Amino acid sequence: MKKQPIYPLAQAKVSDIFALSVLNWYRQHGRKHLPWQQNKTFYGVWLSEVMLQQTQVATVIPYFKRFITRFPTINDLANASIDEVLHLWTGLGYYARARNLHKTAQIIRDKYDGKFPSQFKDVLTLSGIGRSTAGAILSSVLDAPYPILDGNVKRVLARYFAVEGWPGEKKIENKLWELTACVTPTTQVADFNQAMMDLGAMICVRSKPKCTLCPLEKECKANAENAWQKYPTKKQKKELPIRQSYFLILQLGTKILLEKREDEGIWGGLFAFPQFESFEELKRSDLVKNMQISQHLIAFRHTFSHFHLDIYPILFKADMNKLQENRGIYSTSVSSNREYWYDLRQPSKIGLATPVKRILDEFMYNQQ
Ligand code: ADE
Ligand code: SF4
Repeated sequence: MKKQPIYPLAQAKVSDIFALSVLNWYRQHGRKHLPWQQNKTFYGVWLSEVMLQQTQVATVIPYFKRFITRFPTINDLANASIDEVLHLWTGLGYYARARNLHKTAQIIRDKYDGKFPSQFKDVLTLSGIGRSTAGAILSSVLDAPYPILDGNVKRVLARYFAVEGWPGEKKIENKLWELTACVTPTTQVADFNQAMMDLGAMICVRSKPKCTLCPLEKECKANAENAWQKYPTKKQKKELPIRQSYFLILQLGTKILLEKREDEGIWGGLFAFPQFESFEELKRSDLVKNMQISQHLIAFRHTFSHFHLDIYPILFKADMNKLQENRGIYSTSVSSNREYWYDLRQPSKIGLATPVKRILDEFMYNQQ
């Protein structure tokens, strides 16, 4: 008599229950009306996944709609200027995503005839697309059986299986990849993956998960231990360092001087005010030689993932004579490669660093 393959069957059963519970929940409660879920295309799903990488759905929706309207196809995006792409991205943050998106659109235009590749290995080579995003795109559009592992899915799995250890650690991440591969079904993968992200965003939320509404409530280990706080294990906290930055705001009438940042760095490719690490350094700048400070504007803090930046905006109201003295023959209507006179009356379509936009918006408001 043949031996029963007990272990594989038992394993299959556990993951089937998981997938079926999740899919049933999705049918009743999942999100099915997001703009990128209608008439799915590779382009729309790719764009939405990149926008959603560090940003919530509600924030992404208006950006997605504006983007798709302005750039209806991958080739439209590829042919646009990076300044306009960054302009439409202003406020979403993590601008490397926008630069990668633009670069990738050009690669798709040149190498794939404008059509998004449908092979997993090809998708993985594209800038800004890792294993999880590649899986999310292919499963969403083709229903292909690729597991995903974004922050939401990590949280659900870490709680369900009571996985100890910080998921940023490679070893723990690998374990979570095994688990997501194990629970992901081979059919209805688009719905399943969307359901897992929705569960993480709507039910198994970071703080106070709604376990009584969760389809995984019965089998979930964290729930059994009544210890959702323990999972996923938090990173050992380091205090963020604080840096200072002095923004030189040089105003001439309705125009304000901006500089384009080098492509590398936090605000790569974006426009920002001339910026200094100390007040003394700012005062010594040739830009404001022999000028008086008009006003210390209100300082504020902008926090990045790895440091706080305390920003001190300092206003100088220039006149043309002083500018000519300091800079030779001068005109604010000609912008050089890196210098740009931003006109408050006619805001231009350029990518602005978020704190810079905040200050310019205030100027605009005060002008009205
Ligand atoms: N986060 C990343 N991708 C997502 C998606 N498709 N839906 C909701 N949240 C997401
Ligand atoms: Fe998360 Fe609670 Fe569901 Fe467990 S039962 S997966 S902790 S929401």
